[in-house]
Amino acid sequence: MLKTKITNLFDIKHPIIQGGMHYVGFAEMAAAVSSAGGLGIITGLTQKTPDALANEISKCHDLTKKPFGVNLTFLPGFVEPDYPGYIDAIIKGGIKIVETAGRSPEKYMSVLKDADIKVIHKCTSVRHALKAEKIGCDAVSVDGFECGGHPGEDDIPNMVLLPRAAEELKIPFVASGGIGNGKQLVAALALGADGINMGTRFIATKEAPVHQNVKDAILNASELDTTLIMRPLRNTERVLKNTGVDKILAKEKALGDKIKIQDIMDEVAGVYPKVMQEGTMDVGAWSCGMVAGLIHDIPTCQELIDQIMFDAMEIINIRFKSLSQ
Ligand SMILES: Cc1cc2nc3c(=O)[nH]c(=O)nc-3n(C[C@H](O)[C@H](O)[C@H](O)COP(=O)(O)O)c2cc1C
Repeated sequence: MLKTKITNLFDIKHPIIQGGMHYVGFAEMAAAVSSAGGLGIITGLTQKTPDALANEISKCHDLTKKPFGVNLTFLPGFVEPDYPGYIDAIIKGGIKIVETAGRSPEKYMSVLKDADIKVIHKCTSVRHALKAEKIGCDAVSVDGFECGGHPGEDDIPNMVLLPRAAEELKIPFVASGGIGNGKQLVAALALGADGINMGTRFIATKEAPVHQNVKDAILNASELDTTLIMRPLRNTERVLKNTGVDKILAKEKALGDKIKIQDIMDEVAGVYPKVMQEGTMDVGAWSCGMVAGLIHDIPTCQELIDQIMFDAMEIINIRFKSLSQ
């Protein structure tokens, strides 16, 4: 067993969090991770309305008695989602942990804190982590350059980003991005984190409510098979390479700095349900991390978390002891 500031803060058995994932973080996913001793997270905005989120939260309560959280992503969009409505559903649903991401959650901190909700903000730089600390977040998830999804624009990998975060932060943080096994959990702890957050690794599990083609694509991918899109738009995203992504990259090359989001709408808008639910893999861009190269099986969430913990404890208790003279 590993007891850390993160297991204490969220009242979970293991310091392992499943980050919010669009069209993956449904009740089944969050409940499977939480029941296995980690912290599962429902992705708020995948639910089209606050009422739909309320239903998803209630379904998750039926599936697990363990704590779980909800992700609220503040990303640049054409239409601002009904964030107050979603927060209302979160509060009324008895949720005590919210993972925020994208922009700073500052505007909503007081309403979340008044409802006794712990906020973990996911960010990609030390300066954003410090801002999160300043506005009262309880913890941060530090997402390195390796991560699936939006790594930001600084391109600092976790081997440097995590110890830099440890130098500056007072609140606890988890390491996020590129992580999928027990060795990496121990490395994250050594670099100053109090736990890990995983996205891509949790998609390749039995319970992940996505099409088998998605799991197979991750299984078949190596660490060389992701690429970055939308860099010219300063909305960089790490995605799995496919023919839809090739089209985006060709347009980025042709249009250079003049590119607008409208130019790539066909390959980025409405893609997630087609990929995750229908298994149409080449239709466009979907987030995937470099950790795909380390994913070789599709276990249950319980088997995955147990294996990570077993391997981590073996390294700490046996390997490290044998090294220390
Ligand atoms: C398919 C997919 C969808 C994601 N969607 C979201 C999202 O909607 N909101 C969010 O905050 N993070 C999202 N993420 C990021 C994850 O929560 C997590 O930070 C990231 O996957 C960590 O990197 P890893 O994939 O290397 O583990 C997504 C990641 C993936 C792989």
